[in-house]
Amino acid sequence: MLTNEIRDRLQRHGQERVLRFWDRLDDEACGTLGAQLATIDFELMDRLIEKWIRNTPSAERFNAIDPVPLIPEADLSRPDAREACAAGEDALRQGRVGLILVAGGQGTRLGFSGPKGSYPIGPISGRSLFAYHAEKIRNLQRRYACTLPWYIMVSAANRAATEAFFREHDYFGLRVQDIRFFQQRMIPCVDDNGAFMLDAPGRLAMNPNGHGGCIPAMVESGITKDARERGVDTLSYFQVDNWAAKVADPFFIGYHVLRGGEMSSKINRRNGPREAVGVHCLCDGEYRVIEYSELDIYPQLLELDAHGKPVYLAGNPAIHILSVPFIERVSHNFREFPWHLAHKKIACIDDAGVRIVPDKPNGYKFETFVFDALRYIPHDPIALEIRRDGEYTPTKQFEGDNSVTAARASMARFWGEWLDEAGVATPRDGQGNVAVDIEISPDFAYSKEEFMDRMKGCTLDINGGISISADGSIEYADNRRA
Ligand code: UTP
Repeated sequence: MLTNEIRDRLQRHGQERVLRFWDRLDDEACGTLGAQLATIDFELMDRLIEKWIRNTPSAERFNAIDPVPLIPEADLSRPDAREACAAGEDALRQGRVGLILVAGGQGTRLGFSGPKGSYPIGPISGRSLFAYHAEKIRNLQRRYACTLPWYIMVSAANRAATEAFFREHDYFGLRVQDIRFFQQRMIPCVDDNGAFMLDAPGRLAMNPNGHGGCIPAMVESGITKDARERGVDTLSYFQVDNWAAKVADPFFIGYHVLRGGEMSSKINRRNGPREAVGVHCLCDGEYRVIEYSELDIYPQLLELDAHGKPVYLAGNPAIHILSVPFIERVSHNFREFPWHLAHKKIACIDDAGVRIVPDKPNGYKFETFVFDALRYIPHDPIALEIRRDGEYTPTKQFEGDNSVTAARASMARFWGEWLDEAGVATPRDGQGNVAVDIEISPDFAYSKEEFMDRMKGCTLDINGGISISADGSIEYADNRRA
């Protein structure tokens, strides 16, 4: 079941210890391990181990790092924004737009047992992140009388559970033929000596190859071909844990198509020099996103202006538009993409076959990042500034920064403004913050204007918090229904 070629390869690359339990494995385990080993790019692993584990690579140096030029937040009072919105809406009506959702990550920090997209983010309704994203799509498809094919990247770690979740929820009311799951590649985790790790006697510890893995995976899985066959050339990219992500935003699409963009980005103002977010900038003229873990290497990125705000203000909310030809072109460059290293706690088995769940980092994961494709843009960057509330609620953990609780507070603030404008009193605390949970289905209303329209002549009583569902029915925080 294990070819001599793979045995030889393991030996040549010094990784034969992964076969230490081979003689004790049953057929199924032999099959699993053999199949995993057959997918490994050993030359790549050698390079990564040599560069990152046996050595400490020196940081890239640049002569000049400049802030990326920004398009100010889209506002219909500006002619450029009106023109962009019209162009984006045209592209949507013409069926040129599709969606890429990356949902292949392991979601370790959140510590939730299912795929992150199945997390019940709605504080009252318990509706999942996937359900919310689907409701946005239902609204847009109705509004623009179009089909938005939804390409969802999963990984070996969560494909079966994700597909089952969609089936159980009847694809959230979307047409099954317009949803395509595609799988990214996995890469072995290595210990502090650069040796592959075992997750079980017959299974390697592996991790998905990062969200950058969507670039080759879209080509290899026939997603770009499917898009072309549907007449789709513009893909709206978002991440599953951003509850607020405004998918297929017409303004953003419009700037992208009008300026002939290949990969465009949204950016949010960093709220301080140490915020845990990547920074968009131009490094010797090339578009880069510098990770927050590298800020001390490039201290100018910590500079503040006279008002105490970061000079390099463009934080990375991981929201992009990619054109289909660009993905196809850049997939050929994927081997040159930089890999990023993270020291992590990796559950594994020791030499005696005993399972270890470490309490401190014991190994490394390698990942690629989608924003590294930005360096292949040949011309002026398209970077559109956004507000956070209603656009960016990263959900990495339950409490604290970038958490479930922070996302719920942000959405309550965002939807609370709609309610205020509709003349509904939202309970506030002493500091003026919305004091209750609020949910408004994006299928019911995906903009304040739409909400105002749908609320005409209605009165609402919020009490301890409300959730308005797609059909306008209301659920109260205390489980009353209306
Ligand atoms: P993160 O890097 O925050 O990872 O992913 P994560 O899996 O959500 O959480 P941790 O780090 O294990 O706690 C940001 C987005 O990129 C996707 C995730 O699913 C999430 O939508 N992603 C990440 C992938 O699709 N594949 C990957 O290999 C990594």
